[in-house]
Parts: sequence; structure tokens; C-alpha cells
Amino acid sequence: MSELSEPHSAAYMGPQRDLFWNPDHVELLGRRFQLARAKSVLDVGSGQGHWGRLIDRVTAPDATTVGVDFEPAWVAEATLQARAAGLGDRFRYQQGSAESLPFADASFDLVTCQTLLIHVRDPSAVIAEMVRVTKPGGLVLAAEPNNRAGVLVETFPSPDSSPETLVRRLAFYLICEHGKIVLGEGDNSVGDRVPGYFAAAGLQAVQTFMSDKTWPLTPPYDGDEQQSIARLLAKDADSGTWLGRSRDDSWRLYRAGGGTATDFDRCWEERMQEAKAVAAAIETRQLHTAGGVIHYIVGGWRTYA
Ligand SMILES: C[S@@+](CC[C@H](N)C(=O)[O-])C[C@H]1O[C@@H](n2cnc3c(N)ncnc32)[C@H](O)[C@@H]1O
Repeated sequence: MSELSEPHSAAYMGPQRDLFWNPDHVELLGRRFQLARAKSVLDVGSGQGHWGRLIDRVTAPDATTVGVDFEPAWVAEATLQARAAGLGDRFRYQQGSAESLPFADASFDLVTCQTLLIHVRDPSAVIAEMVRVTKPGGLVLAAEPNNRAGVLVETFPSPDSSPETLVRRLAFYLICEHGKIVLGEGDNSVGDRVPGYFAAAGLQAVQTFMSDKTWPLTPPYDGDEQQSIARLLAKDADSGTWLGRSRDDSWRLYRAGGGTATDFDRCWEERMQEAKAVAAAIETRQLHTAGGVIHYIVGGWRTYA
């Protein structure tokens, strides 16, 4: 990758990742999935390491974590962040592909990922690799969303909130989402299918839960979390993006999803009007939302057989 190009998922890698889970829910998940038994952890598609550092709170106290990511920039950044968090002696990161993990069979007690499967061409192939490197009796754990649901959550204070407006917004999103699948870049709503993929991969006692964290915004947006959510929602208007995606990138996906240039221009204009309305409503402290998201967590055990 050239030094000038953006690393994969850069638009979605900010501090808001720390808002994906409530800390007490992570503790609950730790008990449900017996994460305290995990002494060796592999975080696949580790990015800047947010997910690995979060679940480290509930794995064995002396657990070691290896993160693997195909982006050298993220490997370097995650290494720095682990050191800064005082985890340098137990965490290490290396470059590698989720489709061909650079580890021997049965290497880890816990093999996990968050928002990785939404970016891969063949999630089942990646899950098979995750199962391969999991020790018998170990756990495979994936946190993956259904992002299309979020498009209907009321964070867009459009002047016209008619059913037709919602349908046009959803259609735009779905065509882009379909284009991403067609291009082999992953399915942003793959979370719905992860439990089935886990069962098909031979994992046992598959359990599915959902993050109970929302991204609420309530005027006057007091506190760091609300400020961070407000900044994120207002960002599209400043940067001329929609849901963090540039016009060019959105057109690339929309076209691959079967959309026409004329429809795209019309839809994009409407998205930009919405983005400006969102930013204005935040500026005037009018916007409020419960900010629900669908972010699943799915676990399944590798058998001894
Ligand atoms: C949205 S980020 C999630 C990062 C991290 N799991 C978290 O939750 O903070 C997705 C990460 O997966 C990495 N990635 C995507 N496809 C990959 C692949 N096939 N092999 C390895 N890493 C991959 C990207 O570089 C990126 O760092």
C-alpha cells in the first residue's frame, strides 16, 4: 500500500470504537463465555487494537494477546497503543491475512474478531481459519453488526421524514452495501449470518447476544461521550461524506450495486442535504436520538474430536 493511501477502515477507526460496549456488559460477556479461562488470545483484524484491549479486562490476568492485521500501519499503531496502555509485555501485533492466519493449528484458547467479517469476501473461509488455530475446547468469538438497521434509526432530522424519504435513504444504502458485496469487499450486515456460519464450521453450543450500548445524543450533549457522538454525526457535512464515505467511494459501490449515474447524483444530493440538516440540528442543539445499533456477539466452542 502506498504511504499516501488511507489504511483499510481508516474512516471507522476513531475513539468512538471505545463506545461499542458498556464495561459492565463486557464483564457479563466474560462470565457467559468463561473468558477468564483464556490465557492465549488471537485478535484477528486487530486494527488499532481496541477490541483486544477491551476483552483483556475479562480474560485470564496473565493472558497474552496476539493481534494480526493486513495493514502495516495498524500493526504499528496497535503496538504503540498497547505500550501506552501498559500492555506491551503481554500484547504483540503482526501483519497477516485473516484468510491464511500465520499460526499453527490449535494455537490459542480464544480466537476473536470485531468488525472484521464485514470486510472480507468469504466470511466462512475466515471463520474456518479462526477455528483451525483455536485449541480444542477453546472459543471462537465474533462481534459483527447489521449496519443496514442503523440507517432507519432516527438520527437524520430530515425536514421531510415521510416513509418515501426513509425508503430512498435505505435504498441508497442497500445499493451501496450490495455493491460492496459484488466487489468482494464484504457485507456490512453480515452479523445476521454469523451464528449460522459458526454452526456450519462445526462450532458447538453457539450463543448469540447483542451489545446493549447505544449512541444516544441528548441536548446539550454534555460529557465526552456525547461530544464525541455529536462530532461524528456532524462530520459528514464538513467532509462531504455520507456515513464516513466519500462521494467517489460511494459512487464506486453504488455503480457496482447496479445503480445508475443519474440516480446516484439525485440520491447523493439528498444525502448531502440530510448531512447538512444533521450538522445544523446539532449546532442548534435540536438533534436527539436514542442511537440504537445492532452489534451482535457470537461465540462457539471448538470440540475435542
Ligand atoms: C473495522 S476494523 C476493526 C478493527 C478492530 N477489530 C476493532 O474492533 O477495533 C477492520 C480491520 O480488519 C482489517 N482487515 C480487513 N480485512 C482483513 C483481512 N482479510 N486480513 C487481515 N486483516 C483484515 C483491517 O485492516 C482493519 O484493521
